[in-house]
Amino acid sequence: MSRYLLAIDQGTTSSRAIVFDLDGHIIASSQQEFPQIFPQDGWVEHDPEIIWRTTEETCRDVIKKASLHASDILSIGITNQRETTVVWDKETGIPVYNAIVWQDRRTAGLCQKLKQEEGLVERLTAKTGLLLDPYFSASKIEWILDNVEDARARAEAGDLLFGTIDTFLLWRLTGGVQHATDATNASRTLLFNIHTNEWDEELLALFNIPINMLPEVRDCAADYGHTKVDLFGVEIPIGGIAGDQQAALIGQACFTPGMAKSTYGTGCFMIMNTGDQALQSKNRLLTTIGYRINGKTTYALEGSIFMAGATIQWIRDGLQLISNAKESQSLAEETGADNSVYMVPAFTGLGAPYWDPEARGAIFGLARDTGIKEIVTAGLQSVCYQTRDLLQAMSQDGACPASIRVDGGMVVNDWLMQFLADTLGVTIERPRVTETTALGVAYLAGLQAGVFESLEQVADLWHNEAKFEPKMSECDRERLYSGWLEAVGKVLGNK
Ligand code: G3P
Repeated sequence: MSRYLLAIDQGTTSSRAIVFDLDGHIIASSQQEFPQIFPQDGWVEHDPEIIWRTTEETCRDVIKKASLHASDILSIGITNQRETTVVWDKETGIPVYNAIVWQDRRTAGLCQKLKQEEGLVERLTAKTGLLLDPYFSASKIEWILDNVEDARARAEAGDLLFGTIDTFLLWRLTGGVQHATDATNASRTLLFNIHTNEWDEELLALFNIPINMLPEVRDCAADYGHTKVDLFGVEIPIGGIAGDQQAALIGQACFTPGMAKSTYGTGCFMIMNTGDQALQSKNRLLTTIGYRINGKTTYALEGSIFMAGATIQWIRDGLQLISNAKESQSLAEETGADNSVYMVPAFTGLGAPYWDPEARGAIFGLARDTGIKEIVTAGLQSVCYQTRDLLQAMSQDGACPASIRVDGGMVVNDWLMQFLADTLGVTIERPRVTETTALGVAYLAGLQAGVFESLEQVADLWHNEAKFEPKMSECDRERLYSGWLEAVGKVLGNK
C-alpha cells in the first residue's frame, strides 16, 4: 500500500531526498554534496549531469534506507535552488553548457546596459515583481545563447529547451515526456508576468529568447506525469513542484497574509505572505508568487541575501578557522553579542535591499586582540544584520510580521537564534521539523494525491519547538546595527 511522500530537494550545495509519512514525519533522508565550479571572479556553475546523478542516487538510497519499495511512494514533489539556468538538447537531453547558478554575476554588464533604457526597469518590475539583476534566469539564458557555439541557431530552430533545475529534473525523471515548471519557479526568471500568469513577449524579445524553449507553467500541486519505469522499477506520480523558498513558506504553514518565514541555507530568504495582493516594494524587495494552488495565486514579498550558511562554509573551508559549523556556536558564546568586528559577506555582490553586484566582501574593526572567535562571531552576526536589513525594508513597505518562523541548517544554533531575535526585535519561532523546504513540497505532492484536502489541514501539522524572544536593550540593538550599516556603506560600489 502506498503510504509515503518523497521530496526531492535539489539545493545549491547538495541534492537531497527525504521520505515523509503522511503526518509530515521524516522517515529517512539521503544527501550528497557536489562541487561548485568557479571559472572566474563572480562566476558560479554546476555540472547538470552531477545534479541529475546525485538526485537519482539520493532517491534510490532514501527508498532503501526507509526499507520501502518504490511502489510505497504515493507521490513525488520536486523543490529546487531557484533561478539556476540549464539549456539542453531536446533530442539527446545533453546540456549545452553547465548550469549557471543563481549567484553568478557574469551578466552584470548586460543588465547594467539594459538599465540605461528609460522606463525599462519600472516596466519590468511592474510585470515580474523583480529587479533587473543578474540573479534571475533571463540574462543567464541570453548569455548561453550568445556564447555557446551554435546555441542561438539551435534554439531558434526549436532544438533546445530551457529549464530551471525543477524543469531539468522533471524532464529527466519522466524520460523527456514533461517539459514543465510551476508558477513559483517561473516567477523567478524575469520572463513571467506574475499578474497574468503568462510568459511575457516583450521580455522575451528584450532578452532575445525564443518562446519555444520555455516550459509550460502549472500550479504547484498538479499532474506532472510520472517517473519512467526503468528509474525505480515502477512509475511514481510527480504531483508537486515549488522553488525551495516558496516550498519553505508552505512547509512553515505561512498561509495567512502577514505570516513570514526566513530560511538559512546557502543564502537567506525572508518571505512574507501578502495574500492575493501583489504588493510592490518601494524598498527594493521582490514581489513573487508564494504559491499557486487550484489556479489561485498567492503573492509574497521576498528579501534575498546571497550569503548566510555559505559564509560559515567559507570560514570553515576557505579560512579553515573552524572544523565544523557547530563550533561557531561555542566561539560566539565566548565572544558575546557585543563584538566590534563586522564581516560584510559580499562575496558575490549584495542582494536585497542593496542590489550591488560589484560589491565585494570585507572585514572591519580588527584590533590587536582580535582572534578567531571574533571573526567567526562576526560571520554569524552578519546573517542577523542582513536579516534586519530585510525586515526594515519590509516594515517600510508597510508589511511588518509580528514573528518570524525560521528554518534551514543554521537554525539549530541557539546563540544565533537569540542574537537574531535581539537584532530584529521580534519573536523567532523554530518548528519541530526544520526541513521545511522538503516538507513543503511533500505537502504539495500530498495535496495533489488527495492525502490532504486543504491548506488548513496542512497548517494543523505545524508545531513549534522553540521560541526566542528579544532580550537586548533597544540602545544596544541600535548601536550594534549602526556599526553594521557603517560597514556595508564601505563596500557598496567597490570592487
Ligand atoms: O534563489 C536561490 C535559492 O533558491 C537558493 O536556495 O537553499 O540553495 O540556498 P538554497
